[in-house]
Amino acid sequence: MTITTLAEYQRDWDAAKRDPDAFWLGVAKDRITWANPPGKGLEGSFATIADAPLTWFADGSLNASVQCLDRHLDTRGDQTAILWEGDEPSDIRRITYRELHREVCRAASALAGLGVKQGDRVILYMGMVPEAAIAMLALARLGAVHSVVFGGFSASAIAGRVRDCGAKLIITQDAGLRGGKKIPLKATVDEACRETAVDKIVVLRRTGDPVGWQEGRDLWWHDVVATGHDTHPPAIVPAEHPLFILYTSGSTGQPKGVLHTTGGYMAYAAYTHATSFGLREGDIYACVADVGWITGHSYIVYGPLANGTTTVMFESVPTYPDAGRYWDMVERHRITIFYGAPTALRVLANAGDAFVKKYDRSSLRVLGTVGEPINPTTWNWYHDVVGDKHCAVVDTWWQTETGGHAINPIAGVTPTKPGSATKPLPGIVPALRDSDNKVIEGPGEGRLFLEQPWPGQARTVWNDHERFVKTYFAEVPGVYFTGDGCRRDEDGDYWITGRVDDVVNVSGHRMGTAEFESAITSVVGVTEAAVVGYPHDTKGQGIYAFVVAAPSVDRAALDAACRKMIGAHARIDKLQLVPGLPKTRSGKVMRRILRKIAEAGDKDPGDLGDLTTLADPGVVEQIKQGAAKAS
Ligand code: PRX
Repeated sequence: MTITTLAEYQRDWDAAKRDPDAFWLGVAKDRITWANPPGKGLEGSFATIADAPLTWFADGSLNASVQCLDRHLDTRGDQTAILWEGDEPSDIRRITYRELHREVCRAASALAGLGVKQGDRVILYMGMVPEAAIAMLALARLGAVHSVVFGGFSASAIAGRVRDCGAKLIITQDAGLRGGKKIPLKATVDEACRETAVDKIVVLRRTGDPVGWQEGRDLWWHDVVATGHDTHPPAIVPAEHPLFILYTSGSTGQPKGVLHTTGGYMAYAAYTHATSFGLREGDIYACVADVGWITGHSYIVYGPLANGTTTVMFESVPTYPDAGRYWDMVERHRITIFYGAPTALRVLANAGDAFVKKYDRSSLRVLGTVGEPINPTTWNWYHDVVGDKHCAVVDTWWQTETGGHAINPIAGVTPTKPGSATKPLPGIVPALRDSDNKVIEGPGEGRLFLEQPWPGQARTVWNDHERFVKTYFAEVPGVYFTGDGCRRDEDGDYWITGRVDDVVNVSGHRMGTAEFESAITSVVGVTEAAVVGYPHDTKGQGIYAFVVAAPSVDRAALDAACRKMIGAHARIDKLQLVPGLPKTRSGKVMRRILRKIAEAGDKDPGDLGDLTTLADPGVVEQIKQGAAKAS
């Protein structure tokens, strides 16, 4: 099943809406090698989700690693599965499907030897090395549940995740390498484990840097896998067995452990990877995301390997050694599909076209983007300069919770417009709703909801189904709320306008304003803080903090608190010390006022709307006056 014409797209979209069970059972049969094929499609519904998570393919059973490895051995055992390029462009590893299968089996049997069992949770805190994918697949082979924590997160963030999911084992590396800089991964894990102990830490040697060591707890990865076997039987698990937990930021409180299960997620990742990009035999596919985010899970590891693709893993950054690195890789590896983030493209476009034109990009056919709205100027640069006007640009809108692509053009099929994610994939039924939650028909702008379940969606929040229901299904009962704003034009094309909740998207990294606020208010001398996003030229959005603090509090202390409690990627871009926050008489901070002031920057924010409910309207004037000095 592929889509090669608009008529086929329409046919599949209609079929998935009319009879989701028949459509998705067909996809699941087509894309997955089941131990026991499912007879059941969807059970449960959005309307009954408060009672129990919904299920897909519940009577089927499978193993995720078999999809990515075993079933390719006869047909493509000698084909490169992972093409890894390290921090230095000359540092290349090619791992065939046969080798990857062997490595995964060795790791799986060795981890089983350490006592890892089906259902156990294991945290990965690693850089972009092949062993990160090997560890994910090895855990999946055992039916264990991985939770990858992005290598920029702090010790406190790791400890919080270890506690929440009850992990007893962490897999990490001595240090990460990015753009010639070392990132002390093991040291950060050690610090996390002073807060929350684990039984074992397995450490991959990447840089050879000295590391702290606790005998009996710490083990080298190479010593561990040396005890493994070249084959290890996969654990056959029910389709709804948990595959992974990925923590993600929301409007309130600490990050949530979004849970994805095996059958529906694998079918959806494989289907969307092949469909959106118009995948062909022989493609060299490069997604330059990090495995610590959902994009790395679905579109570096699970989707591409399930489809038997050669998937590129990239350890470095787009500007190392210079702004031509991506296109140098395209030339050297003859990459056909390239998938990146608008924030990097904006930086590279600013560096000048010479960095692009220096390299042969004739192998490219598809250019994908993900993670944040792509502005038309950047879209056009991607299309005209990088793609020499002959590539399909595929702007993919989706989320950690959707598991895979949701709204995007199908490469070479769907007509595109710079800045629009265009049309929903089969199975995705979007609706725009106004502020009264009434459905908007035809062209209009509102909040984006998805009305019908699809197999790749998150099933629950780890250990907190009530929070899952409250976060996504409380706004309109029976309908999934995305948290995004969106416009639909007269052609039915969708234009994502950004988050409408208290989530900020900085360089494609999703951050909760509540997390910043709790970090900032932890600093002695700070009374209150409110954090909002504001438009930022290269990052898409920046973090703007309004802080009420004693004169003794300095900027460095606030930055340090964010680094410590969230991670190195959590920075305050603009700080404004204010005499008070605009609050209603019942004490609720009126964020829409702060958002408007932050968006205006040093300009007048104009009409701030109804201020009559404010306890002290005078404070708004003072904040407006001070905005020009925010830095
Ligand atoms: O606001 C949307 C934005 O990223 C959010 C999801 O973030 P996360 O769960 O970290 O997943 C990122 C990778 C899928 C969305 O709610 N977003 C993602 N892709 C796009 C986007 N906004 C506009 N256009 C996109 N293509």
